[in-house]
Amino acid sequence: MTAPIPLIAGNWKMNGLAAALGEARAVAAGLGSAAARVALCPPATLLERMSSALSGTAVLTGGQDCHAEASGAFTGDVSAEMLADAGAALVILGHSERRAGHGETDAIVAAKVRAALRGGLEPIICVGETLEERKAGWALAVVTGQVRGSLPAELAGKDFAVAYEPVWAIGSGLTPSLAEIEEMHTAIRAALLELFGDEGAARPILYGGSVKPANAAEILKVKDVGGALVGGASLKAADFLGIVGAL
Ligand code: 13P
Repeated sequence: MTAPIPLIAGNWKMNGLAAALGEARAVAAGLGSAAARVALCPPATLLERMSSALSGTAVLTGGQDCHAEASGAFTGDVSAEMLADAGAALVILGHSERRAGHGETDAIVAAKVRAALRGGLEPIICVGETLEERKAGWALAVVTGQVRGSLPAELAGKDFAVAYEPVWAIGSGLTPSLAEIEEMHTAIRAALLELFGDEGAARPILYGGSVKPANAAEILKVKDVGGALVGGASLKAADFLGIVGAL
């Protein structure tokens, strides 16, 4: 079974006005022959403009969330079809900031994953434990439980990525040890093999949480780390390119 193609995705979260499109252009211009697929996920307001600015380059764009329905009376929400219409190829789903701040359960995330597939988007499905869960020794059980609950059977035969993002490592400057990352990625890989058979070996498992140019090379070398989901360091082209170049 072929090894996963690495994916380095930048999650801009709720950051970026029109002036920030220059950073996206600079990522495309500085990319060279990257060893990974590279994507930027801006806020929905910038998605169409960023997709246009990056069209014809190797940098993909993605959304940060989508509604489970294709259209309807859901004020403020955006559907997978709308993201695709704005040029997105991917969508981040189940980010801990959505799970914690918007009450997204595994079942809701799974419904959004089905929506992404319906809309022709490749989902990046996020999982990760809180600090309390890690301290209690539950990290592996929590995360593999999220994988089983958030990844519907419809993903069989489809491109997708899982992103392991320990909640306590996001935006904190803290990261798990390399051994802890390896232990978790091995457990997620085992869950993917159990859910999807051999195909489960070909899907990248990204690490996310305080990835920066200085720690990217060692993290990206860990067994079964197939790329990164980058928050803060994806806002500046030089930092993001430093991470892509670390692969
Ligand atoms: P930071 O890289 O800012 O820690 O954020 C990680 C993240 O949440 C990416 O989705």
